[in-house]
Amino acid sequence: MGRAKITVVGAGNVGATCAHWAAARELGDVVLVDIIEGMPQGKALDLMQARPIFGFNVEVVGTNDYEASRGSQIVIITAGIARKPGMSREDLINTNKNIVAGVTREVAARSPRAVLIIVSNPLDAMSYVALKVSGFPKKRVMGMAGILDTARFRCFIAMELKVAVEEIQSMVLGGHGDEMVPLVSYTNISGVPLRARLSKKRVEALVERTRKGGGEIVSLLKTGSAFYAPAAAAVQMAEAIIKDQKRLVPVSAYLEGEYGLKDIFFGVPVILGAGGIEKILEVKLTPEEQVMLERSAAAVARTRDALGM
Ligand code: NAI
Ligand code: 2OP
Repeated sequence: MGRAKITVVGAGNVGATCAHWAAARELGDVVLVDIIEGMPQGKALDLMQARPIFGFNVEVVGTNDYEASRGSQIVIITAGIARKPGMSREDLINTNKNIVAGVTREVAARSPRAVLIIVSNPLDAMSYVALKVSGFPKKRVMGMAGILDTARFRCFIAMELKVAVEEIQSMVLGGHGDEMVPLVSYTNISGVPLRARLSKKRVEALVERTRKGGGEIVSLLKTGSAFYAPAAAAVQMAEAIIKDQKRLVPVSAYLEGEYGLKDIFFGVPVILGAGGIEKILEVKLTPEEQVMLERSAAAVARTRDALGM
């Protein structure tokens, strides 16, 4: 078997960083696609020139033509636009819906066996578009959000407790929006429950900071949104699939009755392996977490309905 091929569509901040980390970790050859002429080619060539320095032995190709993506094992979709002044949320949904639908048609035709990892926002709705347009089985279409949102929560806890970040285990479920659900009852520091180490008030403050984690970066950057941690999360998903790692991680998955939800993409714990989503786990929630989950699901359902699909 040759090397895996990973296509990343959208060579902007998140897409280019995905290409960077996928290549540096030697997950496979990377094809970077964008509509802007020269830009993906330039970034790919620049990454190729980093190879002699760090010594990673994979090819990175930049292109405006989907032919190079043919036969990809993984396609990460980051194409889209950010909300501009005067643009309503619905306008953004419609614009990105058309972009994600067009990209999905192009990649699905050339890589019919690929796993699609959606990053474009609004995340859960764009994953829905990719599933419907590709016609792929639900286990091969998923959205990236839960690993990122969980990483933010783990990072804030580690900063607060001054403890190594790897010791913090947690899970953030629900939609990728301010209503997301950090599961405090499943959060621990090497097995010690978070609630035993921090006051209720501090825990609530960290949960709130996590929920607004994307916005905090936007208000600092001013000209865009987060990309290092989002790209790391998408690349971890690709790695779990390429290496058949059977990781238990939260991703946005298509639900057909799990957690009492149907016909919706929503952040839930899954097993990620060679087949994509190999299993969706239904974990027991506290009554408080259950209420939050339902609130988040209602918000995601409203955005799905706005797609008119
Ligand atoms: P960016 O603006 O830096 O990059 C987007 C790229 O998509 C641009 O280079 C643009 O030319 C390209 N593009 C637009 N239409 C295209 C098309 N039809 N075909 C191919 N390429 C096309 O944006 P950034 O920061 O990379 O974010 C990308 C998307 O990811 C946004 O929708 C953002 O909101 C979302 N995002 C989602 C996260 C998550 O947790 N799910 C985290 C971070 C970003
Ligand atoms: C984030 O959470 C913008 O969805 C993006 O950073």
